[in-house]
Amino acid sequence: MSDFSLDGRTALVTGAAGGLGRAYATALARAGADVVLTDLPGAEGLAETARAVAATGRRAYVHAQDLSRTEEIAPFADRVRKAAGPVHILVNNAGTAALERFNEITPASWSAVLRVNVDAVFFLSQRLAEHMIADGVRGGRIITVTSKNALVAEAGLAHYNASKAAAQLLTETLAVELAPHGITANTLAPGMVETPIDGGFPFDREAFEAAYRERIPLGRYSRPDEQAGALVFLASDAGAYVTGARLVVDGGVLADQMPRTRFMPPYRNTVDALDTADTADGA
Ligand SMILES: NC(=O)c1ccc[n+]([C@@H]2O[C@H](COP(=O)([O-])OP(=O)(O)OC[C@H]3O[C@@H](n4cnc5c(N)ncnc54)[C@H](O)[C@@H]3O)[C@@H](O)[C@H]2O)c1
Repeated sequence: MSDFSLDGRTALVTGAAGGLGRAYATALARAGADVVLTDLPGAEGLAETARAVAATGRRAYVHAQDLSRTEEIAPFADRVRKAAGPVHILVNNAGTAALERFNEITPASWSAVLRVNVDAVFFLSQRLAEHMIADGVRGGRIITVTSKNALVAEAGLAHYNASKAAAQLLTETLAVELAPHGITANTLAPGMVETPIDGGFPFDREAFEAAYRERIPLGRYSRPDEQAGALVFLASDAGAYVTGARLVVDGGVLADQMPRTRFMPPYRNTVDALDTADTADGA
C-alpha cells in the first residue's frame, strides 16, 4: 500500500546494533527507506544490522556515536547529514537500564540512565528537527521509543521509569512545537520484548519471565519484529495526522492492571448455539 511506503526517505535509527533497533532498521528498509545506523563505538552487531538493511536493497550507513556524550550530539547529527543527506525519520531507540533500589542509585548511575534516555533523545531531536526544517524535508518524523515504564512504576528502575516518562512529555512538546513545520513527533511504548536489555539483571531468568508472562494478556513476550509495524505506520504517510501520540505495543499489559482475569471462570463460547441455528436455517 503506497501510504505505507518509505521510498525516497532516509531514516536514522539509534541503538541499531541489535534488539529492537535492528528490527526497526530492517522494517524501515523493507518499507523503502535508506537507513543510517548508530550505536556505541565498537558495538558488535552494527555490521549485522547493516547487512540486514542492505539485503532489502536499500542503503545502510554506519556512524558509531556514544550518545551519552551530550556535547558531541549536534556535531554527530551534522556528520550524518553530510554523509547521508537530509534525514526524514529519526528513531530515538537507544536506551539503557540499570536495576538498583532507589536508595542505592548514585548521582553517577542516575545520570548515566538520564543522559542516554532523555538528554540524547532531546538534543538529537533538536538538531535533526533543525536540519529537517532547513532542508525542507516532506514528512519529517521523530519517533521515540519509550516503554510501558513511561506509564507504570516498576520496582528497581526509578531512574529508568523517570527517564521514559520524561521522554514521553518532551516528545509531546516537540509535537506541538514542530507541527507548524509538518514534522510529527510520537512515542512507541513496547511492553516486554525478547531483547538483551535486561540480560544482565541477577534473576532466575525462567522464573522472572514466567512471572511477567502471567501479566501479559497475549501470554507471551513480543518478538522485536512484532514491534516494527507500528513504527512503519508512524513513519509513513499513513501516520501523517498522528502527532503527540503514544502507541502502546504491549500485548495488553497496560489494559490489564487488575488481577480479576486470574479468577474468571473458563471461557464459554456463547455464540455456539447461534452458529448452529444459522447453519440449520441455511441448509
Ligand atoms: N526489551 C524490552 O522489553 C523493552 C521494553 C520497553 C522499552 N524498551 C526500549 O527499547 C529500546 C531498545 O532496547 P532493546 O530492548 O532493543 O535493548 P538493547 O540493549 O538491545 O538495545 C539498546 C541499544 O542502545 C544502545 N546504547 C546504550 N547506550 C548507548 C549510548 N550511550 N550511545 C549509543 N548507543 C547506546 C546499546 O548499545 C544497545 O544496542 C530502549 O530504549 C528500551 O528502553 C525495551
